[in-house]
Amino acid sequence: MSLTNNPSKTNKSGNSASGETANKTWGGVFDEATDARVQRFSESVSYDARLYAHDIRGSVAHANMLAAVGILTEDEKNQITAGLAEIGWEIAAGKFEFKEELEDVHMNIERALVERIGDVGRKLHTGRSRNDQVSTDFRMWIRDEIDRLDYLLAQVQRAFLSRTEKDAEVILPGYTHLQRAQPVLANHYWLAYIEKFQRDRDRLTDCRKRVNQLPLGTAALAGTTIPIDRQMVADELGFEGLVANSLDSSSDRDFATELLATLSLVAVHLSGWAEEWILWSTIEFNFIKLPKAFCTGSSIMPQKINPDVLELTRGKSARVIGSLQSLLVLTKGLPLAYNRDLQEDKERVFDAVDTIAICLELAAPLVAGAELKREAIEERLDRGYLDATTLMEHLIHRGIPQRTAHGLIGNLVGLAMEKEVRLADLPLEEFQKLDPDLDESVYEVLGVEKAIKAFQSVGSTHPDQVAKQIEAWIAKLADNQPE
Ligand code: ARG
Repeated sequence: MSLTNNPSKTNKSGNSASGETANKTWGGVFDEATDARVQRFSESVSYDARLYAHDIRGSVAHANMLAAVGILTEDEKNQITAGLAEIGWEIAAGKFEFKEELEDVHMNIERALVERIGDVGRKLHTGRSRNDQVSTDFRMWIRDEIDRLDYLLAQVQRAFLSRTEKDAEVILPGYTHLQRAQPVLANHYWLAYIEKFQRDRDRLTDCRKRVNQLPLGTAALAGTTIPIDRQMVADELGFEGLVANSLDSSSDRDFATELLATLSLVAVHLSGWAEEWILWSTIEFNFIKLPKAFCTGSSIMPQKINPDVLELTRGKSARVIGSLQSLLVLTKGLPLAYNRDLQEDKERVFDAVDTIAICLELAAPLVAGAELKREAIEERLDRGYLDATTLMEHLIHRGIPQRTAHGLIGNLVGLAMEKEVRLADLPLEEFQKLDPDLDESVYEVLGVEKAIKAFQSVGSTHPDQVAKQIEAWIAKLADNQPE
């Protein structure tokens, strides 16, 4: 695909027989050519050329419909659709020259069609406007990207799931406030991310329903007097319904904003995960070894292995969230219906989609390829009194009120800290000072392995609960494997 950035010639010679000024499709009311600076300022083809395949598909459906309702003859329709197909191949082969003076992808393709098949091509735009056309193209493009992103998200989920066999025995400290809190299975961590990404997928699926409504045929803002059949176009293009109100159709970009809100949440999830693994890969944590192919070195410090992919994943969340912000601000003050401001939506959406796609593409192999440093983790698992809460709950089981038990165990932890020992190292007498009824059974919940097994609630880190969830995810993620 090439875009000629030729400095626009102000062409005053102007109006052709068809009533167009210079290269423009608008007609006789203009007696001046567009200022070269305006042309450069207002063009969008340098980026919306990316919509070409969807533009052509939409135009073919529109032409088929125009023929079905008798606006085009069968022969005219055939000329138009064949011409559009040729243009599509040319663009795909990189042989098409997009022209800035034709402003956007829609006018470039339409002009090329007219040049190719003559006046018949001038009938294609009957009953539509670029306002409904651009929205149609954009919705079709987003729809396809949602499907791709959903697949990429599933791949990341599968990568986490793929870890569960080899990490089955590993226990990690769980944190709140980034302070050691309670022990959890490593697999419980992986499941947590699978859940988050599932909600992102669900949000995408939901967003897709609203994206997948056909605007075409609402024309500029009020509809058209041409007896078009919008449902026929919707059926051909796979839209689930018609945008009901033409003013809404012409002005609406909330389908795109909603996508960016959803992608912002994906970015937030990726960024949180990236941050966690950046910490885990430090010597201070020493929990994880990242695959070297996903790290880079330092130009000055020979020993460095830097987690750049994770850092960039965290960093790139900023631009995705920024894009959401852009669309919200872009649209917040727009009166009905179409306003040219809306042209500013595309780059933000393209960028957010591209950014999330590459982050997900990298996340999957990185997740699957990292190694937990089991020994280093295990060595320090008895630090931080991860079993204190379980012990407190053991007291509750024996009839001590929670608030009382909390205080008692707090004191006991204070004692253990003073002595620099684990709770499990304290002699039974110390426990009996809290409650003379306590017996050897306290040791059944002490130590991380035993603490893990003491959990009971649904969704907890008990090995049986975790195993159940893993099983469910294996079934679920196997279901929608791509063909
Ligand atoms: N390039 C424009 C956009 O992206 C297409 C619609 C232009 N419509 C118009 N009436 N000028 O929004």
